[in-house]
Amino acid sequence: MKTLVTGGAGFIGSHTVDRLVERGHEVVVLDNLDPQVHGKGASPRHIEEHRRAGRVVFRQGDVTNRADLEAALEGVEAVVHLAAAVGVGQSMYEPYYYVHTNGTGTGLLLELVVARRERIRKLVVASSMSLYGEGAYRCPACGGAEGRERDEAQLEAGRWEVACAACGKDLEPQPTPESKTPEIASVYAATKKHQEELFVSFGKAYGISTFALRFFNVFGPRQSLSNPYTGVAAIFLSRLLSGTAPLIFEDGGQSRDFIDVGDVARAVVLATEYAGPGAHVLNVGTGRRTSVRQVAEALASRLGLALQPQFLGRYRAGDIRHCIADPRRARSVLGFGAERSFDAGLPALIEWCRKETPRDEVEASLAALKEKGLVR
Ligand SMILES: NC(=O)c1ccc[n+]([C@@H]2O[C@H](COP(=O)([O-])OP(=O)(O)OC[C@H]3O[C@@H](n4cnc5c(N)ncnc54)[C@H](O)[C@@H]3O)[C@@H](O)[C@H]2O)c1
Ligand SMILES: [Zn+2]
Repeated sequence: MKTLVTGGAGFIGSHTVDRLVERGHEVVVLDNLDPQVHGKGASPRHIEEHRRAGRVVFRQGDVTNRADLEAALEGVEAVVHLAAAVGVGQSMYEPYYYVHTNGTGTGLLLELVVARRERIRKLVVASSMSLYGEGAYRCPACGGAEGRERDEAQLEAGRWEVACAACGKDLEPQPTPESKTPEIASVYAATKKHQEELFVSFGKAYGISTFALRFFNVFGPRQSLSNPYTGVAAIFLSRLLSGTAPLIFEDGGQSRDFIDVGDVARAVVLATEYAGPGAHVLNVGTGRRTSVRQVAEALASRLGLALQPQFLGRYRAGDIRHCIADPRRARSVLGFGAERSFDAGLPALIEWCRKETPRDEVEASLAALKEKGLVR
């Protein structure tokens, strides 16, 4: 099958490309090599190797440019749309860029698919757990499931957990099902929800097999170490490798569902090869919780560094406390289950990062957020 991967030079994209090649797909990559992700310079090593070996056609171009997309879509039968502006904090002060790249890019892509719909029978788009806002919760005291939104006064007082709307006790995080009502807390999350809805409505109307995959917190080799806006594990690594302590908001007890990039690539390829009809929205996560503090400590100890994380006690506008996937729907539709835990994925990440020289942009990004009043 001839498969286009937009954003195929990126973190998740490059692993997806590896797997598609392995599975015998004819792969075309469209990527503009955004300097914030790739630094300045040539296409990344792994894509360059595939290109030289004739396994992948690489096109440097932009998903918001009609001619670039038209050329990339030639002969294509499946589209995996991963290209996006990726960063929650940054999206809050560059909304135009985020809406343009993620929104207009998707609209243009789908418009070009219409004319080629006899041939293009499979669509996959990267959505995100960020559209949930807070994950699902349950109250151990009264059994309630509704939380009170963490307001300014609560956070100022350093009370980080979400309180039960009925009885005020701290709630316990639960696996979050796809049916949870989204609570959009950033421009980035809004664009991801928008992309998802565009794909799903389009797939239904044209009877094209469509998947919107809500990735949880993806980690692994090749995540940009220089982009201070994405990937908590990569951000901590870039700090540690430059000899500085990871900076942690709140108290580090906030937790996420960390999924290995190899597992994510497998989910994407399963969706691309899915033989059945329909438009599906699926979580792609492990169902397991890891706190941000655990991530920082595990990375430092694997690197053999005695650097203790620095707790800022501050918080960022729109940050959530806990969000973990309910992975059951992906299992029943795609037969997908994550195979690697965070601990099992760490050695590969550490081995890779030792060969990298990151630019530590974290302080600068923090300053940008502070200046806009987005960190308190
Ligand atoms: N990494 C995560 O934890 C995570 C979680 C949820 C969702 N996602 C989604 O997964 C997708 C891939 O994310 P990633 O982590 O691999 O990020 P990434 O930044 O490594 O990859 C994105 C790629 O898209 C390219 N790109 C950006 N703008 C483009 C444009 N206008 N035209 C063409 N290419 C463009 C970039 O150069 C980059 O190679 C994104 O859609 C992101 O929203 C990622
Ligand atoms: Zn309660």
